[in-house]
Amino acid sequence: MEDARIKILSEVRGLFPALSEKMNGEPLVYLDNAATTQKPIQVLDFLGDAMVRSNANVHRSMYELSDRSTTLYENAREKVRAFVNAPGRENIIFTSGTTASINLVADTFCRRLGPGDEILIEGDSHHSNIVPWQLAAERNGAVVKVIPTDVMLGAGRSGRVAFEMLDQMLSDRVKILALTHISNITGLVNPVGDIISKAHARGIPVLVDGAQGIVHEKVDVQAMDCDFYAFSAHKIYGATGVGVLYGKTEILETLPPYMGGGDMVETVTYGKTTYAPLPLKFEAGTPNFTGAASLTPALEFAEYLREGETGCVLGEEEERITSFMTGALTSDPDIEVYGMADGLKKTPIFTFNIRGVNAGDLAQLLDKMGVAVRSGLMCAEPLINSFGANSALRASFAPYNTLEEAQVFIKCLQRAKNMLL
Ligand SMILES: Cc1ncc(COP(=O)(O)O)c(C=O)c1O
Repeated sequence: MEDARIKILSEVRGLFPALSEKMNGEPLVYLDNAATTQKPIQVLDFLGDAMVRSNANVHRSMYELSDRSTTLYENAREKVRAFVNAPGRENIIFTSGTTASINLVADTFCRRLGPGDEILIEGDSHHSNIVPWQLAAERNGAVVKVIPTDVMLGAGRSGRVAFEMLDQMLSDRVKILALTHISNITGLVNPVGDIISKAHARGIPVLVDGAQGIVHEKVDVQAMDCDFYAFSAHKIYGATGVGVLYGKTEILETLPPYMGGGDMVETVTYGKTTYAPLPLKFEAGTPNFTGAASLTPALEFAEYLREGETGCVLGEEEERITSFMTGALTSDPDIEVYGMADGLKKTPIFTFNIRGVNAGDLAQLLDKMGVAVRSGLMCAEPLINSFGANSALRASFAPYNTLEEAQVFIKCLQRAKNMLL
């Protein structure tokens, strides 16, 4: 059993060149996976090969090199479709990231809103799922309302969203609901399926920010029944600068184009333009075609990590890491850990503060020990502020992290804490 664990973990880790880097002379312990994941050799090789052998603009030309590039790009769309179980290729729009995907929906969907209409978001939202809605609301007099967390209600300290408030908040004024699948701060998996059913019962469409969800949960957009699902390639082993927006056909068809330019048109005259069918209607200009194509090896890799004996071993390792980290952090009276809530699944994203210690100072000391973690507001300023903090430390694990790395992290954290207290 232990032999299988060591064999599989070292096989998986061996595929990531970055994991054998040293930082400040120490072996790298990379625990900033919620910000971006490292890339396995399959993805790195694919990117290099695509640049060398298939570099031509997509959808535009009659020569073989362009066909190759278009094929890689469209194959990736099919891979994404299958990965999230979308009904068709027209439901998968390539963007530059989760942020761009949410902005696309906020901008185009909210053009139909007027004064007094409400956009409902969550208290644990990333800035990407707050600011685009504020911008859209400012343009038409709509209002952004927030489903509070237990902290905001004075009913707890976890940062768990008080979804029990939903029934009273889902009024006829609410025109769209923007959910977070998994919070990048608390690591809690929100019960999006149940919430979507409630919203749909009132005819309210739902967008799900899946930046973290796509990594830690198996996503089936048809089973979830979300109207939109947004995620980024770089958080799931793919290239940076690429995102996905899944949308239901019937709602995408009603949205106006987001940006105008090449590839999103059918015919153009100086007087009037008609638009390309889905999904190209929302893909104006030259896309990051090589980066988008990297979603094929990236998602194949994600599947390999989830399936068979590898999936079993990595799943058990994640459980061990989660329980070790929970125990180590919650048993230290100097530490306040956020995201400890009963009844919700917890993914290995741990955000906390040590009383009297600046999170940035801690992160810098940890870096000297080879440990890479995030500190600051983690693009969730309202949530971090609600804890009475203006920064926090976050250690976020990927399937290639080991229990030994979690143990090194806790040891280094204690050393750093003793130096600062
Ligand atoms: C929950 C959540 N939403 C949105 C984003 C934004 O992703 P990107 O910067 O790739 O657009 C992140 C990134 O950290 C995230 O964690």
